[in-house]
This record gives sequence, C-alpha cells and structure tokens, in this order.
Amino acid sequence: MLVSYPTITVGASIFILAYLAKRYFSSPWRRLPPGPRGYPILGNALDMLNMQQFLAKSYALGDLVYVNAIGKSAVIINNQRVAADLLDRRAATFSGRPRTIVAQELWCNGLSIVTMGHTDRWRRMRRAMHEGLRTASAKTYHEMEVEEARLLALALSNDKDVSTPGGYVHHYARYAASLILAITYDRPIRGTAEDEKMAHFLEWILTKLEAATAPGAHLVEYFPVMLAIPAKFAKWKRDALEGHVKISQFYNSLVDDVKRRMTSGEARPSLVRTLIDEKQHFGLSEVETSWAAGIMYIVGSDTQAAMVEWITLALATHPEFQRRAQAELDSVIGHARSPRIEDRSNLPFVTATLREVIRWKPAAPYGIPHVSEEDDWYEGMFIPKGTMCFVNMVACNTNTEIYGADAAHFNPARYLDEKGQLKPSPPDTKDEGHVSYGFGRRICVGRHVANDALFIATAILLWAFDLSTIGEYDLHTYVDKGVTNSPKPFRCKFTPRFPEAMSILAADLDAA
Ligand code: HEM
Repeated sequence: MLVSYPTITVGASIFILAYLAKRYFSSPWRRLPPGPRGYPILGNALDMLNMQQFLAKSYALGDLVYVNAIGKSAVIINNQRVAADLLDRRAATFSGRPRTIVAQELWCNGLSIVTMGHTDRWRRMRRAMHEGLRTASAKTYHEMEVEEARLLALALSNDKDVSTPGGYVHHYARYAASLILAITYDRPIRGTAEDEKMAHFLEWILTKLEAATAPGAHLVEYFPVMLAIPAKFAKWKRDALEGHVKISQFYNSLVDDVKRRMTSGEARPSLVRTLIDEKQHFGLSEVETSWAAGIMYIVGSDTQAAMVEWITLALATHPEFQRRAQAELDSVIGHARSPRIEDRSNLPFVTATLREVIRWKPAAPYGIPHVSEEDDWYEGMFIPKGTMCFVNMVACNTNTEIYGADAAHFNPARYLDEKGQLKPSPPDTKDEGHVSYGFGRRICVGRHVANDALFIATAILLWAFDLSTIGEYDLHTYVDKGVTNSPKPFRCKFTPRFPEAMSILAADLDAA
C-alpha cells in the first residue's frame, strides 16, 4: 500500500472543502444588490407590511435594494433610470407578475389581466384591451368623461355636508365608479335601484380581491403545498371558488347586456363593444372577454378616485397655482360655457397641473410588482429568476437630476417652457412627464383614458370652484388601500367661483 487511509481522507476532505469554497466564492448569490438585514426565515417580510415606511428606509440603501420575504427574492428600485433599464429595456425578462394563489388562481381562476403572468393569455387580453383603450379609442369616451365631471361638480355643490372631514370622498368614489362603468359597458351609475345593486356588488368584488392580495393574508402563498387541502376543510379556498362562480355570472350578465344593446342598435362605444367586435381578431373566449372587462373596475375606479382626491388637495393647498390655472381657464373659456376636452391644447397650464399632481402623488406609489423570468445581471449585481421588482414611484418621480432641485415640491411650471408651452417630457417617461403609470409591457393600459378623464375633471373643478382647506391637512401620509393610496381625509371648501357656474354646468349637461 503506497497511500494510507488517513492520507486519502485528508486529501479528499481538502478537495471537497476547496470545491465548496470555490462554489461559495463564485456563487452569483454573493453578488446580490445591497439590502437590509432581515430576520431568520422571515427575512424582511415584517418590514414590508408597512410599504411606505419600508420604501423610505430602502431609499437610503441605494438605487437597487435586495430584500427577502420568507425566502422569496425581491428588489426595490429607487431610481427612474434603473427602473427603465430593467423593466422597459429588458421587458422580455422583467414582465412577469408574482404568483398570487388565492386572488389570481382561486378567486379569478387565472383570468385577471393585472395579476396574471407574462403568458399567451395575457398577450391576447392585453392586445384586445389596448385596442379598446388606446389614444384613438379613448377619444370615443370623451362625451362620457365630460358628463361624469359635470355631474361630479353639481353633486359637490348640492351637498351641504361636503366640507365635513372627507365629505367629498363618496362623491369622488361614485364619480370614478360611474366613469369606469360607462367606459367599459356604457352603464354609468344614475341612481336606479339596479345601478345601486351593481355598484354594491362591484365594491364587494374589489374588497374581496384586495383582501386576498394583502401581504400575509394567506399562508398558502408561502406554502403552496396547502393548495392540495380539499375545499371542504379550507374556508379560504371554499370562499374563493364559490366567489369565482358568482363573479363570473355577474361579469357575464354585464357583457350580455351590451350584446343586447348592440343587437337593438342602441349601444354607444364601450370597451366591451370593441372586445366583442374584435373577438375573432384577438382570439378571446367568452369568459376571457367578461373578465378582461370586469377587472377594469378593480384597477380603474380606486386609482381614478384617489387621483381626484390628490388633485383637490394639491390645488387647495397651493392657491398660487390654482389662481394661475383659473386665469388660464377664464381667458380661454370664459364664463359662458364649461370646459371641454377639445380645449386641452389651449390649456397648457391646466395640463401641466394635472401632470404635476400625477408625478408628485402617484395613486399607486409602489406600482404593481413585476417578476423576472430569467436569472439576470445588472451593473455587476445578480438578480435571480423569480425576483419581484417593486418600483418606488415617489423616489423615481422626485429624482433631482431629472426633475430639478425642487423635485420634492409641487410646481406645475416645471413642465412649461419660457413661452408657457409644454416642454418635451424627460427621458424614459413615455411623454407622460413621470413614471406613475408603470413600465414596459405592463405599463397601465388605461392611461390614455385616465389622462383624458382627469384632465376634464381638473378643468371643470377649477373652472367652477375655488378650492380651499379648512383646518389641518396632511400632504405626506398615504392612506394605503392595497395598491392604491389616497390622502388622509381633509376638510375642503368648494366655493362656486361665479353665480352662474352651476346653472351653466346643468345647461351644458342637458344640451349634450
Ligand atoms: C391615474 C390613474 C391610474 C394610475 C396612476 C394607474 C397606474 C397603474 C400602474 C402603476 C400599473 C402597473 C404598471 C406596471 O406593472 O408597470 C397599472 C396597470 C394597469 N392599469 Fe392603471 N392606473 C390608473 C388608471 C387606470 C384606469 C382608468 C384603467 C382602466 C380604464 C387602468 C387599467 C390598468 C390595467 C388593466 C393594468 C394592468 C396592465 C397589465 O398588467 O398588463 N388603470 N396602472
């Protein structure tokens, strides 16, 4: 025997140790982006329950911050260029969505476009919805958007309790709900018993889906093996499966109603009409059509209502900009008629004001997370496949290198040149002037409709009222309702700007 057993053992041990050390030191997992220390097993999951605080903390750690939520990788993107590099310029890799078992797979049976992965079904649904909501189609909804904004202003002026804390909230919620239902089904809410029942059921769906997606709501999200538990032993599963059937029936009935009106020749333009007309072209099944339309309320109504709340608060607390917008409205429109969407090209300051509110107070301040579908590297940092990407919209939109030294402040004039005309938008903002509508292939498909409707709502509110706050208000805290965030309720005074304002609005409404 030339080599003794101890020698072999020592040699083998050294070899194995060297191999493990090499693997350890060359592992891409040692090159993750920097991030806060988490707890064993839980990682940073507890911190992430308060996203607003967590984003503020992560901002101090860098442009790209790695976090771990119970073994799931996530990054927080705090910089607009980095967000665009990954989510826009590498959209082929970064367009997935995190798996959400209870909300997407059970309640929606995989049919919600917002939470579904980057799949063939998503591509077909997205193309069809783009057809019904792109700039050219968005014009067909102008009449409805103006009507809803006029009704909103009249409702505010007729409510004697509107100046109580949050007294405007239910008006804005009704406005946004009615707007989305008008655009989707040509079914605005006009106060009939049937309308109220419909609105009530839609709110129920919204509440259920929001609760199902809330972080930590269901253990099955962390232990997917629990999905095998039979429904009769798992209330969360039973409720979701039964809920799916009820929701599908309801969504189908709304589409059937549009079909009836199309047959009788009474149907005005709507998203569903486009989806039905273009069904063959986009290859959507009946159930995909119903759910593509139904989900509009979930994504469109809260965001729209929250934005009108921020518009009101921003202008009520910045009277100098409010007066400048009103002076523009008075000189272009006067007091003999109310504003229309076609006036927009002559109202650069009002347009800039809306852009500025959406930049300054994005309704979805950490967007909707994307997921990477492959391992990737960015500036020497490893991003593993399956990483959730949250964008800190406020940090991106207030980057001083892009928006100037006063980026944290409300200043619509930043969007105007010395002649008072709109300047070209900063890079990577897709002509929006901010990144509040998200990125890449998942960018908000409703943004043209949202911009048109919010423009006319802003113009009509400012034309009709002087807005002012009463008592205390909070410009910094976001009331977190899941994806959408609104301001803390405040007291707002809506003072008609001239005696005929309301009668002109009512007359314009009748004449339309
Ligand atoms: C100012 C109001 C709104 C804001 C700030 C907003 C913001 C967003 C954001 C941040 C996303 C995620 C983008 C991403 O993943 O990168 C999104 C997605 C989406 N939005 Fe909006 N949104 C608004 C209004 C609307 C409206 C009115 C509609 C419908 C008419 C709508 C329909 C959608 C849909 C369907 C998606 C999912 C797109 C997908 O996953 O492919 N949004 N929105």
